[in-house]
Amino acid sequence: MAAQSIQDRFVAAHAALAAVAQEHVLASFAALSDAQKAELLDQIDNVDWPEVARLVKSHVLAKPHFALPANVAPAPWYANVPPADQAGKYQQARKAGEELVRAGKVAAFTVAGGQGTRLGWNGPKGTFPATPVRNLSLFQSMGEYLLNAARRWGKPVPWYVMTSPANHQATTDYFTQNDFLGLGKENVKLFPQAMMPAIDMKTGKVLLESPASIALSPNGHGGSLKALYASGAIAEMKKRGIEQISYTQVDNPIVRIIDPLFLGLHALDRCEMSSKMLPKAYPKEKLGNFCLIDGRMTVIEYSDLPDELAEQRLPNGDLRFRAGSIAIHAIRVDFVESLNTRPGGFALPFHRAEKKVPHIDIVTKQPVEPKSNNAVKLETFVFDALPLCERSIIYETDRLDEFAPIKNADQEGVAPIDTPNTSKARQTLRAAGWLEKAGVKVARNAKGEPDAVIEISQLTAIYAEDLKKAKLPAKIDAGAKVVL
Ligand code: UD1
Repeated sequence: MAAQSIQDRFVAAHAALAAVAQEHVLASFAALSDAQKAELLDQIDNVDWPEVARLVKSHVLAKPHFALPANVAPAPWYANVPPADQAGKYQQARKAGEELVRAGKVAAFTVAGGQGTRLGWNGPKGTFPATPVRNLSLFQSMGEYLLNAARRWGKPVPWYVMTSPANHQATTDYFTQNDFLGLGKENVKLFPQAMMPAIDMKTGKVLLESPASIALSPNGHGGSLKALYASGAIAEMKKRGIEQISYTQVDNPIVRIIDPLFLGLHALDRCEMSSKMLPKAYPKEKLGNFCLIDGRMTVIEYSDLPDELAEQRLPNGDLRFRAGSIAIHAIRVDFVESLNTRPGGFALPFHRAEKKVPHIDIVTKQPVEPKSNNAVKLETFVFDALPLCERSIIYETDRLDEFAPIKNADQEGVAPIDTPNTSKARQTLRAAGWLEKAGVKVARNAKGEPDAVIEISQLTAIYAEDLKKAKLPAKIDAGAKVVL
C-alpha cells in the first residue's frame, strides 16, 4: 500500500480531533515544516481520542469520586521472618525461587519511564548518581545486583527497562556508552511506554507544548502492562522460556531486583501477580494500602483510605491497615499476555493528577508558564491490575534492607524526605548494620548513627550473610569513607 500523503493524514487527523472538539491541535498546521507536520501527525495518531474525550468528562471537567466499598478488609501477608509453623514453607519457597532463576525463567523489569520532575535531574532518572561513596548511578547499582545474581545463580538474568518516548534515546545512549553495564547487550532490552496528553483543567482542551507539538507525558506505570506486550517483550520472554517478571521501580538503589524467596512464595501459591509490602510507620504514611475487597487484592491509595480506617488498631496496638505498597511485584508472563489478548482488551482505571504544565496559548500562540496547577495529567497504576488476579500474595520486606528511594531533590530549608541524601544515609546505615553483624566494629556518633560513609557494592553483598565470605576490615573509624 502506498504511504499516505501528508494531506490525507491531515484530513483523517482533523476528523478524529473534530469528533472530540480538540481540533485546535491542528490550528498552526499550515505554518509547520514538513518534518514538523509529520511529527505532529504521529503524535495525534498515537493518542486514543475517544478515550481522551471520555476522560475529559469523567476526570478533567469533573473530579472522579472514590467510593469506598462497604466490605474492605486488610489483606493478609507473609511475615518478613517466618513464624515457626511456616519456616518449612519459606525454605521450600526460597529453593523454588532459586530454581526459577537458575533455570532462566525470571526476568528483571524496571519501570523507568517517569519524568522525575520532583528530583530536577536533567536526564533519565536511572542515570542519577545514587550511591554514597562511588556515586554509582541508579542503573549501575542495579546492574551490579544483576551481575551478582548471574554469578550466584549461574545464569544471566535478562533485564527489561521501560522508558518513555521522552527519555528512550537518552537511556539507550547511556546503556550503549556504558557497555550495557557489563551485563551483555543481549540481556538488556529497552522499550518505551505510551504517552497521554495533558489537559487544561478549566476548558478540557488538550494543551500544546508548541505549535508543532502536544504537551504529552507518560501514561503511568500501569502503562507497562500494555507496553510489555505491544513492544514484543512478552513474546521475546516466552521465546526465552521466561515465566516470571520481577517488577521494580528505578528510584530505589537497594531494591532486591531478584528475590528468590518472594518469587518462590508467589510461584508456590500459583499467583498471577504478587507484591511486597512495608508495615506503615504511621497511619497516614504516603503508601497505598493493601486491602481485600470481596476477597480480591486491591490497593487503596493513602488519600482514599478514610482516617477512621487508617487509624484503627488491633488489640496488640498494631495498625489494622498496616501493609503499605512499595511498588515491588512478581508478575506471571502469561498473566500479562492474557490481559492483552482478552476479547475487548483490558483497561486499568485512570487517576487524575493536577499539575503545572507550561504550554502555548491556543489563540495568541504565546508561551504560558503557569504559577499554579492548570492541567490534569492522567495515569494508570500497575497495582490496579491486582483485582484482576485470581490469586495474589503479599510478602513483608524489611525497610532498612530494601527501601532507600530517591524521589525529591535536597533543598535548603525543606525537611528531606526520600532525597539523595536520605537515600545515601540509609545505604550507609544498612551497610553499617550488615558489617556489625559480620563482626566489624563501626564508629557511631552520640545519636547512634554511623560516623562514616560506607558503601557495600552489590557485587560484594546483596544479603547481610554474603559478608561472611568477604574480606572485611576489623573496624571502620569515625570520618572514614569506605567502599567494600
Ligand atoms: C510510588 C507509588 C507508591 C509507593 C512508592 C514507593 C504510585 C501511585 N505510588 O510513588 O504507592 O509507595 O512509589 O517508592 O504508584 N513510572 C513510569 N512511567 C510513568 C510513571 C512512573 O515508568 O508513566 C515509573 C517511574 O520512573 C518510577 C516509578 O514508576 O520508577 C514510580 O513513579 P512515581 O510516579 O514517581 O511514583 P511515586 O509517587 O514515587
